Amino acid sequence: MKSIIKISLSIAAGSVLFFTGCNSVPEKKTVAKPTKMVSEESLGLRKVDLYSENVVTPDETKYSKEYAGSGKTIARAFQDAPPMIPHDTEGMLPIQIDNNQCVGCHMPEVAVGMNATPIPKSHFTNFRPHHKFDGKMFEKSIDNMKNETAIQEKDTLVNARFNCSQCHAPQSEGQLVGNTFSPDFTSKDGASKSSWNGSKLTEGLDTILGE
Ligand code: HEC
Ligand code: HEC
Repeated sequence: MKSIIKISLSIAAGSVLFFTGCNSVPEKKTVAKPTKMVSEESLGLRKVDLYSENVVTPDETKYSKEYAGSGKTIARAFQDAPPMIPHDTEGMLPIQIDNNQCVGCHMPEVAVGMNATPIPKSHFTNFRPHHKFDGKMFEKSIDNMKNETAIQEKDTLVNARFNCSQCHAPQSEGQLVGNTFSPDFTSKDGASKSSWNGSKLTEGLDTILGE
């Protein structure tokens, strides 16, 4: 198969050459001079030309040094966006299977005492497809006509939410590029609170509940 592709490609390339060969006497055309030039300095985020590697100064990322509890939460990017981490995460990342300090302060049973926002209900709900696996083969265990998920409410944090920093990033200062996006929050306090709770999680979903 590969060689066939190669051959047809080379034929194609050959024919291009052939045709351009025939057209070797170009028509005389006056090409309009570009009025607007794009400078190398304006092309990237580095703001210097491509040959001045030694003077590139990238925008510095300054993560919050505030201790948990003294940081300022910033508005959420859009309705039910994962809130950014307002505190220092020094020594907490990367999250490891046997070392997840985030849950030590944010699990609902400890959060109130820690003055931290409890991990919401969505993180205790499993949205993953519910397949059977016998060690060799995966088998669908639900109705094909429905969405391939079985939403289950759990008492424990679901594994898909264990790696907090996959979705929650620490706040940082500095603005490499401006942001012109402005969200329309669907709930009144959407900039600071999740609305994605209770029945809203499954609204409009044709999905098996439980199982
Ligand atoms: C020592 C306890 C502690 C640890 C450890 C901790 N946090 Fe926090 N966290 C807090 C407190 C206190 C706040 C401030 C109150 C609030 O906004 O929840 C906070 C705020 C947050 C918020 C903002 C919530 C919101 O509604 O704006 C997020 C997100 C968050 N933390 C995620 C994390 C993640 C992810 C980790 C692990 C990398 C972590 N936290 C580790 C105590 C902690
Ligand atoms: C797959 C992405 C994802 C992961 C992983 C994740 N979160 Fe979230 N988190 C979200 C989203 C999206 C929201 C906002 C919607 C909601 O509340 O469910 C949120 C909301 C939150 C809130 C604010 C709740 C509120 O009521 O305002 C806290 C606190 C939080 N997460 C903590 C954590 C911690 C701690 C972990 C790790 C144990 C974690 N999250 C893992 C996506 C994630």
